Amino acid sequence: MNIVKVGIVGCGNISDIYFSNIALFNNIEVYACADIDVGRAEAKADAYGCKALTVDGMLADPDVEVILNLTIPLAHYEVSMAALNAGKHVYSEKSLAVTLEDGEAIIALAKSKGLLVGCAPDTFLGSRPQTMRKMIDDGWIGRPIAATGFMTCHGHEVWHPGPEFYYKKGAGPLYDMGPYYVTALIALLGPAKRVCGMEKISFKERMITSQPLAGKMIDVEVPTHTAGTIEFVNGTIATLITSFDIWDSNLPRLEIYGSEGTISMDEADPLAGPDIFEGVTKYRRRDKADWNGFPTTIPRNEKTPWDGIPSCYDYATNSRGVGLADMARAIREGGRFRANGDMAYHALEIMVGLSRSSESGQYYEVKSTCSLPELLPVDQVEYMMGK
Ligand SMILES: NC(=O)c1ccc[n+]([C@@H]2O[C@H](COP(=O)([O-])OP(=O)(O)OC[C@H]3O[C@@H](n4cnc5c(N)ncnc54)[C@H](O)[C@@H]3O)[C@@H](O)[C@H]2O)c1
Repeated sequence: MNIVKVGIVGCGNISDIYFSNIALFNNIEVYACADIDVGRAEAKADAYGCKALTVDGMLADPDVEVILNLTIPLAHYEVSMAALNAGKHVYSEKSLAVTLEDGEAIIALAKSKGLLVGCAPDTFLGSRPQTMRKMIDDGWIGRPIAATGFMTCHGHEVWHPGPEFYYKKGAGPLYDMGPYYVTALIALLGPAKRVCGMEKISFKERMITSQPLAGKMIDVEVPTHTAGTIEFVNGTIATLITSFDIWDSNLPRLEIYGSEGTISMDEADPLAGPDIFEGVTKYRRRDKADWNGFPTTIPRNEKTPWDGIPSCYDYATNSRGVGLADMARAIREGGRFRANGDMAYHALEIMVGLSRSSESGQYYEVKSTCSLPELLPVDQVEYMMGK
């Protein structure tokens, strides 16, 4: 197979998992890395055995086919546009951009140049949401009626080494964690048509407690609590809370309620919802007295003891990068890929819509749409992994 060479721009916290996971796929490889902090790029290049380049050097290098944009959200637009203008495909960490206008410009430039744009999160390709989607498609809970997504915690300043950006434009819980929840809901239910939201800043300042910046105060510039309602085209009404203001709660992370039963991504850990690949799915049908729960880590294609639901999807461990491998397949073979820019733009519009609704006091009608991503079958996974 003709391997797609990837250039990573942004060698911070999240880059390690991409460096490690890209090595698992046989259709992509990290060719080079770059960062405005040259020392960081050199350290990662040493650790993972690739070239360290300047950002300009990477954009000028004809061997780089895809720029993997792992910079902070405020830099996503600038880096993605520069990559596209240099004739490279782009796969970006979330969010696609900080504003709708910037997101639209990225998608339009890519289309005009015949280049692909992919975007995280790809956690919806994890075994748990994939199994949930298969259950919905196969009618296990009947017709979807409602859904909930609850991302409640007290912020990332307790663990991230440089958490200030989480409280600046383009972040906050809605734009940082919201993409996982909104994308999972789209991947389970399809596109949305209107939203309404309310949001606020509960603490004007926050103290960093993680090292090396412990004790430093952060000025909070963005809402840290958003409560919203999303109406999907298929009629499902979802309730979404994303909050960095809640110390603890007993709310489930993500549930889908159907005419015949409920499926739940229920975890005690507040940061263990649709933002991770692993986990347990629980479901309860109207004809059963109790919940059934099954881990999605059991061997694929093995029938579970619970109603014979097959656990047939891979990616039950942290597999960030599977969306990029899927995009690389589309670069070589054509056709659609799952973590695509249209879905990322639609997710961004839903989130921006929640904020605009909060400001205006009106519903926000969502203008964009996207297709329901296809399930990721095991044979395609094996193909990408060279099995
Ligand atoms: N940290 C996580 O656990 C995590 C998880 C999932 C997604 N993400 C997403 O990944 C992205 C990066 O997050 P992070 O935690 O790695 O941040 P980080 O601050 O640790 O790293 C970002 C890196 O990008 C570099 N950078 C910034 N602007 C640049 C530019 N214009 N050109 C080149 N390099 C530039 C910085 O120097 C830094 O090394 C964000 O979009 C975030 O939402 C992070």
